[in-house]
Amino acid sequence: MPLDDLDLSRIPRHIACVMDGNGRWAQAQNLPRTEGHKAGEHSLFEVVDGCLDAGVEWLTVYAFSTENWRRPKDEVRFLINFNEEILFRRRDELHERGVQIRFIGRRDWRVPKRLLTRMDEARALTRRNRKLVFTIAFNYGGRAEIVDAVRSIAASGVAPTKITEKTIARHLYDPQMPDPDLVIRTSGEYRVSNFLLWQLAYSELLFTDTPWPAFGREELFEAIARYQERERRFGGVDGR
Ligand code: FPP
Repeated sequence: MPLDDLDLSRIPRHIACVMDGNGRWAQAQNLPRTEGHKAGEHSLFEVVDGCLDAGVEWLTVYAFSTENWRRPKDEVRFLINFNEEILFRRRDELHERGVQIRFIGRRDWRVPKRLLTRMDEARALTRRNRKLVFTIAFNYGGRAEIVDAVRSIAASGVAPTKITEKTIARHLYDPQMPDPDLVIRTSGEYRVSNFLLWQLAYSELLFTDTPWPAFGREELFEAIARYQERERRFGGVDGR
């Protein structure tokens, strides 16, 4: 699907991706699972590229969940090193393209110091960029985010009757992040898997059988086209 076929006046402002299927894609070709993650880097940067061209303002990707620690030790170590390496290797290119890098997730003892340092460097380097906010969810879980928000609200001493949906939204990891308009999950799984639980209340959900390493710019535009075919009602009746 070429970019020209999209309605440029109705591009989703925020797209979130569950980059699923790297392991299965690799195993299907008798490669180690880690080769799937490596191929997934290419897809990710194609999607960043497509978002920049289409005028998407926010892109959020699920890089490592709070549940991913349960994977075999070697794969966990690979994913951590891989994330760290990508941040180092790609940050200048993202910076030059006007991308602002942000992170959501728990900065707990399980996340190695040097990865936290890379995250802080990438965020600081790109913090004035305005073309696209690219948020990486690392050691992220939607329920953990809500627990953390509730803890911080309780610690603030606010009266229970004063707590509204806005209060909760203000205490999420990134209070500036708009709710996603479109959530894409690749590789034929029809689950949300603890991603952006609070934020996706009204998001359009799009599931595709394509594994993440085979996803790219064209598939992103196809997903946007399918989003544009849908009518969003937000609980009302008239599409507003
Ligand atoms: C899911 O595939 C994918 C992941 C757990 C991680 C994907 C990470 C990247 C592509 C790198 C991202 C890096 C940055 C810096 C954003 P899976 O292993 O669950 O696949 P499977 O379901 O086939 O096993």
